[in-house]
Amino acid sequence: MGTYPPISEQLDDVESARAEGHRKMDWARQHMPIMTTIQEEFVADKPLEGQRIGMAMHVEAKTAVLVETLAEGGAEVAVTGCNPLSTHDDVSAALDEHPNITSYAKRGVDDEGYYEAIESVIDLEPTITVDDGMDMVAAIHEDHPELIETVVGGCEETTTGVHRLRAMDEDGALDYPVFAVNDTPMKRLFDNVHGTGESSLATIAMTTNLSWAGKNVVVGGYGYCGKGVAKKAAGQNANVIVTEVEPRRALEAHMEGYDVMPMAEAAEVGDVFITTTGNRDVITKEHFEVMKDGVLLANAGHFDVEVNLNDLADLAVAERDARDGVHEYEMEDGRRLNVIAEGRLVNLAAPIALGHPVEVMDQSFGVQSVCVREMVENGEKYDAGVHEVPDELDKEIAEIKLDADGVEFDSLSDDQKEYMGSWQHGT
Ligand code: NAI
Repeated sequence: MGTYPPISEQLDDVESARAEGHRKMDWARQHMPIMTTIQEEFVADKPLEGQRIGMAMHVEAKTAVLVETLAEGGAEVAVTGCNPLSTHDDVSAALDEHPNITSYAKRGVDDEGYYEAIESVIDLEPTITVDDGMDMVAAIHEDHPELIETVVGGCEETTTGVHRLRAMDEDGALDYPVFAVNDTPMKRLFDNVHGTGESSLATIAMTTNLSWAGKNVVVGGYGYCGKGVAKKAAGQNANVIVTEVEPRRALEAHMEGYDVMPMAEAAEVGDVFITTTGNRDVITKEHFEVMKDGVLLANAGHFDVEVNLNDLADLAVAERDARDGVHEYEMEDGRRLNVIAEGRLVNLAAPIALGHPVEVMDQSFGVQSVCVREMVENGEKYDAGVHEVPDELDKEIAEIKLDADGVEFDSLSDDQKEYMGSWQHGT
C-alpha cells in the first residue's frame, strides 16, 4: 500500500497553488492544437471509459494537458513525477482538483517519498501505464506482479525508458506490451532534437545569466538530443565540440563541421559541458582534474549519472551554491567547477526550468494520447514486449498539426502509388 499523500494534502495554500497551476495549463493548452483536437474527440467519444491509468511523468503544464486529456477520455488517472526536481507543485495541485485525477507529484521529494508516491499510484491498480523513464513498469513487475494480468499495456516516452524496456524484453522479463512512443518520427525528430536543444540552452543561459557566444561548448553524445544541443549552440555562436563512442555518429558530427575529440581532450578546453548520452560516467575525476576555472557542467540525459558528482565532491575542498540552481565545487588549486541543477536533466530540473517548448510537447503527447487509445481499443493485438507505434497513428498526429498550422501538402497519384509499389519499372 502506498502511504504517500496527494499533493493537495501537502500544500499550505492549495487554493492559490491550484489557481496558478490552471493559469499555466491554460497557456499551454492555447498552444497545443493537436491536444485540443484529441481532447475534443476524447470528450465526445469517451474511448478510455472504465480504464485506470497510472503515470510517472514530469508533472508540469504541458504534461498536465495530457493527463487531463486522458481523464476527459473517461479514464481514472493517478500521476506522480519521474524526477524529484521536475514537478511544478501548482500544476500538480490543479490536476489533483479534477474529479478523475489524483496527483502525488511533489517537487523536491526525497528518494523514499519518490518511490512511495509510485506505490500510491499503483494502488489504483492501473490497466494502462504511461511512463517517462520506465519507473512505473519496473515497480509493477518487481513489487506487484499480481497486477500484470489486468494491465492492458503501456506507453514509454523517453530513450532511456525504451532502452531499459528493450533490455527487460530481451531478458524475457517484460510481461505486458509497451509502445516505444520515443521512437516515432513525430516524437524523436522534434522533441529530442529541437525540444532538448532549445530548452537546455535556454535554461542554462537563464540560470547562469551567461552568454554562449565565443564559448567552447562540449556536447557529450551526438544522438538525437546531442544533435539538437550542438545545432542550437552553434546557432548561438558557440564553438561546438562533440564527444562520441559510436563511429558513425562521430563521423556525422565531424562532417557537420564540429570538432570531435575524446572527452579527455575536450575537458581541457571546454567552457560549458552538456551531456546527452543516456549513459553513466561521461565526465569523471580525470576530466575534472584538467578543467578550466569557472566551467559549467550540465546534463540533459535522463538520469543524474552522466556527470559523476561523487568524484567531484571527493575532489572538492569547498562547496557552495553560487546561484539558484548552480552548485560550485572548489578544487584544491582554487579552480571552481559549477554544476547546474544537481546534474539532473537540466531543462526540467533547474529552478527556473520550463521543459520543452509547448509546441514540441503537443506533438509528443499527441502520440502518447493516440497510443493509449490504441492500447485500449486493440490491446489484444499486441503481445508482451516492446512495440513500435503503428505508422498510421504517427501520421494522424502530423496531419492534425499541419492542418492546425494551415500547411497543405501533396498526395501521391494512383500512377505514382503503382510506380512506387512496383519492381518491374526499370531503365
Ligand atoms: P541516442 O541513443 O540517440 O543518443 C545517445 C548518444 O550518446 C549515442 O550516439 C551514443 O553513441 C552516445 N554515447 C553513449 N555513451 C557515450 C559516452 N560515454 N560518451 C560519448 N557518447 C556516448 O539517445 P537520445 O534520444 O539522444 O537520448 C539521450 C538521452 O536524453 C536519454 O537519456 C534520453 O532519455 C534523454 N532525453 C532527454 C530529454 C530532455 O528533455 N532532456 C528529451 C529526450 C530524451
